[in-house]
Amino acid sequence: MNGRDLVRAVRAVGLVGAVQGLRAVRYAWRRRRADAVGLRRRRPERARVPGAVTGAEPAPGGGVVRFARSRLRITVTVTGAVFWGWDGADPEPSYALGGPCPGPDPRAVLEPDKDGGWRVVSERVTVVVSRHGEVAVCTPGGVVLRRDLPPRWWEPVEGGEARWVLRSEVAADARFFGLGGRAAGPRLRDGAYRLWNTDPGGSFGPGDDPLYITMPVQMVVADAGTHLVFHDNSWDGTVTLSEGAEGAGSGHDRAGTCEVRVEGGPLRCWVMVGTPARVLRAWASLTGAPALPPSWALGHHHARWGFGGEREVRRIVAGYRERGLPLDAVHLDIEHFDAFQAFTVDRETYPGLPGLAEDLRRDGVRLVSIVDPGVKASAGNAVYDAGESVDAFVRDAAGRPVRGVVWPGESVYPDFTARGVRKWWGGLYEERLAQGFAGFWHDMNEPVSFAAFGDPTLPRSARHSLEGRGGDHREAHNVYGLCMARAGYEGLRELRPQERPFLFSRSGWAGMQRYGGTWSGDVATGWPGLRASLSLVLGLGLCGVPYSGPDVGGFDGDPSPELFLRWFQLGAYLPLFRTHAALRAGRREPWEFGEEVLGHARVVLVERRRLLPYFVTLAHLARRTGAPYVRPVWWGSPEDRALRDCEDAFLLGDSLLVAPVLEPGAVRRAVRLPRGRWYDVVSGKAYDGPGQVLLDAPLSRVPVFARAGAVIPVRGADGGLSLEVWAPAKGRTGGGLVVPDAGDGWEAAEVQRYVSRWRAGRVVVERETGGGPVEPAYPVRIRGL
Ligand code: GLC
Repeated sequence: MNGRDLVRAVRAVGLVGAVQGLRAVRYAWRRRRADAVGLRRRRPERARVPGAVTGAEPAPGGGVVRFARSRLRITVTVTGAVFWGWDGADPEPSYALGGPCPGPDPRAVLEPDKDGGWRVVSERVTVVVSRHGEVAVCTPGGVVLRRDLPPRWWEPVEGGEARWVLRSEVAADARFFGLGGRAAGPRLRDGAYRLWNTDPGGSFGPGDDPLYITMPVQMVVADAGTHLVFHDNSWDGTVTLSEGAEGAGSGHDRAGTCEVRVEGGPLRCWVMVGTPARVLRAWASLTGAPALPPSWALGHHHARWGFGGEREVRRIVAGYRERGLPLDAVHLDIEHFDAFQAFTVDRETYPGLPGLAEDLRRDGVRLVSIVDPGVKASAGNAVYDAGESVDAFVRDAAGRPVRGVVWPGESVYPDFTARGVRKWWGGLYEERLAQGFAGFWHDMNEPVSFAAFGDPTLPRSARHSLEGRGGDHREAHNVYGLCMARAGYEGLRELRPQERPFLFSRSGWAGMQRYGGTWSGDVATGWPGLRASLSLVLGLGLCGVPYSGPDVGGFDGDPSPELFLRWFQLGAYLPLFRTHAALRAGRREPWEFGEEVLGHARVVLVERRRLLPYFVTLAHLARRTGAPYVRPVWWGSPEDRALRDCEDAFLLGDSLLVAPVLEPGAVRRAVRLPRGRWYDVVSGKAYDGPGQVLLDAPLSRVPVFARAGAVIPVRGADGGLSLEVWAPAKGRTGGGLVVPDAGDGWEAAEVQRYVSRWRAGRVVVERETGGGPVEPAYPVRIRGL
């Protein structure tokens, strides 16, 4: 046990109490022993590189290039995404893919290149392979976006899983984003980023890494172009990034570098090239369209660990209603379970849950239930007994069930990498639906076992089905949360086929958007935590997960009224807008911070509700195009270097730019605007970008801008849809897409396209239809005149 472990042990006891603390100590030893027996010790290894090229064979979409000691398959697919795999790695099987692998693009051809190399030429990208196995991804004009050096493997002499490393270079001006949810971003600075989903324990700030969702997905933005690269491998690994530097005209640029090091599994990769929008569209078509949340999930949610019971829930809901504060959902945490066992109810504190759910529903408030994967290992616990009977739980290398420690005490873990287990688990949500829950909050699914020292998860030697292929936790760990989300989502689809499931999950991996969203996890209360909240949402969006948001106010402790309000003001413009707090943390109801904060919070909540049709539209567009609701300010102009470095503002869809206040005491802030005209939505004053402007940001507001010409769907005073139109600059046109809410089922949504323009000295708005332009069917309000 080292110093860090000791701190963790003390923290574990503080967090979970003495009995659990003791269990956590025992578990840590158990886990260590399991791996000592179940994992083979490091054996002698042999290093290998591909060697020299020996030939190539064309195949649809590209072909195979042979080397003395490996071979490289390259396929350009119909989506424009390029796959390459070394050593015979194929695109499938893959947990990331949302469906069958896209077919090859027949127009892409393999041709000889200079010096004995080969290249695959396609419409949007050219891949050049040198005779020693360097792989360069180039624009059609021949500019190199990324150059991989020949990979290197270390393979056990006696055979078995090989470790590998791949070093790549990118342009000197390139910036890195993504890698899942990272607290210190969104721009990923020089450093090592681990690929291993981790509960940081307690709460986290910008210095904590890794967190709950790691993904080998990077978006790299440079003057020459944007690309997304995905090393499709779920094993433990590390990505080391180093930004380049330009030689200020001396011609001595230093390239940026990225080194991916992985402990096993295939060396294979997908690359997508184009604008950020095009790249994310390709990513969504490869890994699946984001699930569409029901519209109520785009409103305001209130959660807390430890409401204490039904009476308190009713009191809080009434508190919102009486103060004129819109509320759409309340989340019940683990204390509403009987002895923390998922899929049960504590009848003492929640004697009539279905009745409570019904009453809340009448007030327009849905109930959301937490669901943890750890099942209390005790006969008589119905979920445990049923799971045992279908052999659902993860076993160790010797075939014994792995017992970890979570909230209910000693627990076992469903193996969600087995189809039958997912099916069984999905059926359990029937009990939740019968209790009246409308949505689900997956937690502790990294998965967590409290451990006094070492890694707070399952032994690396624990066995998993991995869809029947068989393997261990080293491969299954990072996809555990993803597979649990799949189990829940598919179960709910079967149980309630007429409703879209609402699910969000703390852990996950590439492709998790197919099943739902996520949230920040236990972000530390404090100004750094506020900043980390935005970083997570932006980074996850660039990895294809558009629906997320923080614990508004921070998870632990007591935010000052100012911090709470600033968090609230940020959260209102993020997809998941939820206040939440830990068991012993201070209150998070907006009225607990004094009259002034309450007044400002009311404005925020009313504005969120007014913008609901815009959020609904953004959710539909995310599903159709993969574009996140919340985007970095460089989204439409990645060539603008000053924007690339701007981390304290964001675009909400195409039409709004939000500049939250992330610092204490600030009542003014600088905002960097992308090109075009932008209106301050409060004063209506116009500003022309690109450039920086200084705006007032008193406690009553954070600066929000609307793009000139934007057509924004909002909720009118009568509750119906209306269009807020911001005047285009003179001589220009503008517009926007609107997707009216078609309910919470599977009804096909209609995408309406509006255009705004000046005509005879007036701003007019028309809807474009197949039969020509028509008058909008909704009331229109023109602003910015
Ligand atoms: C974890 C979750 C947190 C939840 C708590 C109790 O810490 O991240 O949101 O309140 O567990 O269930």
